[in-house]
Amino acid sequence: MWEVGQPLDIREVDLDEPKAGEVLVKIGSAGICRSDRHFMHGDAPIAIPVVLGHEGAGTVVQTGPGVTLASEGDQVILSFVPACGRCRSCLEGHSNLCDLHGATGANMLDGTTRLHADGKDVHHMGKVACFAEYAVIPETGVVPLTDSIPMDKAAMIGCSVTTGVGAAIYSAEVKPGSTVAVIGCGGVGLSVIMGAALANASQIIAVDIREAQLEFAMRFGATHTVNAADQDPVRQVKDLTGGRGADYTFEVFGSGDTTKAAYDMAAKRGIVTVVGIAPWGQEASINAVDLVRNEKTLRGSYYGSARSRTDMPVMVDLYQSGKLNLDDLVVRHYTLDQINEAYADLDRGEIGRGAIMFN
Ligand code: APR
Ligand code: ZN
Repeated sequence: MWEVGQPLDIREVDLDEPKAGEVLVKIGSAGICRSDRHFMHGDAPIAIPVVLGHEGAGTVVQTGPGVTLASEGDQVILSFVPACGRCRSCLEGHSNLCDLHGATGANMLDGTTRLHADGKDVHHMGKVACFAEYAVIPETGVVPLTDSIPMDKAAMIGCSVTTGVGAAIYSAEVKPGSTVAVIGCGGVGLSVIMGAALANASQIIAVDIREAQLEFAMRFGATHTVNAADQDPVRQVKDLTGGRGADYTFEVFGSGDTTKAAYDMAAKRGIVTVVGIAPWGQEASINAVDLVRNEKTLRGSYYGSARSRTDMPVMVDLYQSGKLNLDDLVVRHYTLDQINEAYADLDRGEIGRGAIMFN
């Protein structure tokens, strides 16, 4: 991506060898996630030029000096928060919020880039940059698979699945028998639904503005659907929950309005979890008295509050034991040359997740 608002340019760039603590990964698959789209549209800031792509999986083909966490030949899931392991957030067990990763942004952990083109530094989205045949990634940003699983499913665990399932089971800690509403049923929202189903929620209400997404959501554990294009979703969710509202609500689109709706449709003592990334600067207004009198909790969830290196293997196990339906999640496959079409399909609201496959 050279400029905001322009199609992605598919071309050769220079990639340095991995430095100390880094690995070279041959990418197997990369997911078409809305987070990259936010950068292409300028809804979120990122250093440019940049190689996008943060939901991926591949095979380690070279290790830099001192690497101990992965070996050549390992199949790996990529984590877009390669944690330093030493900062306060990491030490407190919140490696998804690594301070050093936050401070170095779309550069490697030492603040420099391994990508270059036309004499310029090119940045690495999430230190992953997997819309590419090869990527140099910090060793803490790769999670080796002990059993081989299809690369497109592994890629999904790198973002949408861990983000969504994690939001339900690690951030909100959905309880058995509870009621849940999920606003936005793309790849991440469907994963929240799968997480709520895994936690044995009794009622899972899928909310979207597209009928096809809603029908699709039933395959992942949704028990009810609400089309927010023609009905007030707050009213509908209240009606479906006997007037109470849902015990757990999730915002999984990314806007101030849907955040407010998630807040308003929550029950007394409800937990409102915001997963979607709204355009930079957008705000959501909530009724400050309602917050107190109904003892609601409003919280954000980044990367499912998961610790990649320990929690992604859990997602792999859940998939292998048939408890996460990743086989139905990825419905469209593309080559890297088709990436702009893949994003046009996302904009059109094609159901399920798309993934780029590499040879
Ligand atoms: N109300 C309900 N659903 C909506 C609304 C709305 N007003 N507007 C859009 N949607 C639905 C879309 O129809 C789509 O099904 O939200 C869904 C969003 O899905 P995707 O575009 O596939 O996005 P996804 O990749 O799942 O990411 C969702 O999570 O990680 C973040 O940055 C990511 O903000 C993004 C969010
Ligand atoms: Zn993503």
